[in-house]
Amino acid sequence: MTYNLLREKKGLIFGALDENSIAWKVALRCHEEGASITLSNAPIAMRMGKIGELAKMVNAEVIPADAISTDDLQKLVQRTIEINNGPFDFVLHSIGMSPNVRKNKPYTDSNYEFMAKTMDISALSLHKIIQTCYQLDALNENGSILALTYIAAQRVFPNYNDMADAKALLESITRSWGYHYGVKKKVRVNTISQSPTYTTAGSGVAGFDIFFNYADGMSPLGNATADECADYCVSMFSDLSKKVTMQNLFHDGGYSFTGVSEKMMQLFNEKE
Ligand SMILES: NC(=O)c1ccc[n+]([C@@H]2O[C@H](COP(=O)([O-])OP(=O)(O)OC[C@H]3O[C@@H](n4cnc5c(N)ncnc54)[C@H](O)[C@@H]3O)[C@@H](O)[C@H]2O)c1
Repeated sequence: MTYNLLREKKGLIFGALDENSIAWKVALRCHEEGASITLSNAPIAMRMGKIGELAKMVNAEVIPADAISTDDLQKLVQRTIEINNGPFDFVLHSIGMSPNVRKNKPYTDSNYEFMAKTMDISALSLHKIIQTCYQLDALNENGSILALTYIAAQRVFPNYNDMADAKALLESITRSWGYHYGVKKKVRVNTISQSPTYTTAGSGVAGFDIFFNYADGMSPLGNATADECADYCVSMFSDLSKKVTMQNLFHDGGYSFTGVSEKMMQLFNEKE
């Protein structure tokens, strides 16, 4: 079902690697809802991923940018303004990577160069993207910026490793920029805290199958899918959520506020 919620809106979407990426689904939904889109990803992801296919489907230009490079971001945002003949309305930050996770370094034996890279790519990149937009006055009034996060920012999930610390920083950056950009131009900044989802980044976390099933069993509504996340992003980019800002919005079927579910109790009971 489409509602034309993003008619005449223009957006910049980071992080679509392949058809499983959450950003991929968000781009498709935004296009269906009438938005014009520009896509970006790291130069290496352009070679390895399938973003070109998505670009054709949503009629978008793809602009490579390493999200930790302020020079790349400057060029990207300037080009996005050119494409749109002026400022645009929304940004999706759907970027995450931890070299410690990739190289199976446990949290208790973290490599600090890797950890700095985790923070830069997965959290500071949001600061850099927003600062670039702010300084170039790239967003229209009532614009909306979203970043994707995970509940490991608030609760311990041992295998989520230093990504948990990166997500805590990402959520803090969201609040700080939500204040500054709100005062300057009524631009909202929020995070969506998504259920475990089968994607390249998600499945890279050790034991992913187990915590996917655990979360599903705990959530009264079951895990939220990537398509459902895309729907939620559309509503947050639309004018229907103009006064929501500086929030971490759980999109997890109720997992975050469930202590224990009858399903899980039954499971433990069976094991006795
Ligand atoms: N999959 C999950 O279970 C889950 C749950 C909650 C939140 N998230 C978050 O959703 C977001 C999107 O991840 P996904 O699950 O769709 O996986 P994904 O692997 O499809 O997307 C991650 C993206 O980050 C991009 N990226 C990495 N380094 C970059 C850099 N230097 N510059 C620019 N882009 C870079 C990758 O190319 C890729 O497109 C991430 O922030 C992730 O932490 C995922």
